[in-house]
Amino acid sequence: MPKTQPPNGKRMEREQGDVNTTPNRRKYWERNLSPEARRWFEEDARYFLHQSLSTPVLNVLSGAEGIYILDLEGKPFIDMHGNGVHNAGFNNPEVIAAVRRQLDEGLTFCPRRYTNIPAIQLAKKLAEITPAGLCRSLFCPGGSEAIEMALALARQVTGRFKTISFWDSFHGAGFGAAGIGGEEHFHGGLGPMMPGTFHVEFPNYYRNPWGFDREEDVDAECLRQIELVLGREPEMSALIGEPISAAPVIPSRRYWEGVRDLCRRYGVLLIFDEIIEGFGRTGKMFASEHFVTPDVLVLGKSLGGGILPFAGIVTREEYNTLQHRSIGHYTHEKNALCAAAALAEIEYIADHRLAEHAAELGAYALQRLNEMQERHPLIGHVAGLGLHIGIDLVSDRATRARAVDEAEGVMFKCLEKGLSSKTIDGNVLTLRPALVITREEMDRALAILEEAIDEVEGGGSY
Ligand SMILES: Cc1ncc(COP(=O)(O)O)c(C=O)c1O
Repeated sequence: MPKTQPPNGKRMEREQGDVNTTPNRRKYWERNLSPEARRWFEEDARYFLHQSLSTPVLNVLSGAEGIYILDLEGKPFIDMHGNGVHNAGFNNPEVIAAVRRQLDEGLTFCPRRYTNIPAIQLAKKLAEITPAGLCRSLFCPGGSEAIEMALALARQVTGRFKTISFWDSFHGAGFGAAGIGGEEHFHGGLGPMMPGTFHVEFPNYYRNPWGFDREEDVDAECLRQIELVLGREPEMSALIGEPISAAPVIPSRRYWEGVRDLCRRYGVLLIFDEIIEGFGRTGKMFASEHFVTPDVLVLGKSLGGGILPFAGIVTREEYNTLQHRSIGHYTHEKNALCAAAALAEIEYIADHRLAEHAAELGAYALQRLNEMQERHPLIGHVAGLGLHIGIDLVSDRATRARAVDEAEGVMFKCLEKGLSSKTIDGNVLTLRPALVITREEMDRALAILEEAIDEVEGGGSY
């Protein structure tokens, strides 16, 4: 039975783009898996619980280095996704050395109720480098848990429980995180999630559901909707979102200032999920720096140095009030090994000026993609900030109809040519390389992308 389509033209059954049930995925396996890879692939599919997006997998990897992932035959792919953990590059030698040192020093874990020097140094470092006013950290193993700590903190300090978040957002797989997430893919079929969870539109200027041309009008309408909910739902604890959406959709500073103001007026905490966007990705150390300072900043992914799972929140002094409750009672709250990896990652990003590099190279890539758009009708819109870039493929520029099948074709063709990327919302190709990528490597990636677009425009299906 066909599913209901949301107003922004997304095909819900394909909102995640490349899933492991599409015929093209099957074709990719047939054409690209070596006999050995096929054997491991089948073992993987035999022993893992299957779910869309992971098992059965795309391919089997043997290595990851810098901007590349490598298959079993050692074929390298420029990884434009990296699950967001690879800001300082895969297998970063300085992060590995820091982890080795920590292993050799003997403290690889820290039981709760004790502390250790790397964990203290990490919390201190985050107080120094996050936007002014954020100074109290709490860590946990994964991003979803960090999101839920932020939500719990907001409930504790406001004494309220409701939340506002955004349609199409993703904040993690846990019940709390998936409850505030805005994609049916991750909470459909689970029954009731968290109570009091309200969703609003993100200010998407290219694809706003009202047909507005002016950004100011989109901002005003989006702010009006937030205020409508705030005015009618008195038990509101927090508004949570990524400063820039995953596609990416980049709101104006005016929009976030408006949200900041509404949160203050209604006594609601503003939570920014920078699990993807933190640590230099957008051309500044934190994406918040482009907009406003939140009350709680949520970090993850690259925080673990691309090696270890680690995440956390950083918040204001005034919310350091929980003497009789625990909101993040995690076994790995002060894991010394994870903290050592995180410190080395942060140092590497700062010492190598990777945020500045992301700003410069991102601007260059954006300019080249804008030129490409003039040559290719399939490219409807290009957006990016730093090395957080999305290419919205359309089958008709006038109607902006999402070119979902073409996007999948381009993605698989790129993969065969050595460029791994991911589609979002079905038709948006995302480019989020490791921040250590050079201009020459970016040129190579863009050349592959254009070749694939050319082939698909020429009628060559995958
Ligand atoms: C924006 C965002 N928030 C939260 C999460 C959840 O992080 P984790 O997978 O570490 O739980 C993700 C993961 O993809 C993410 O992209």
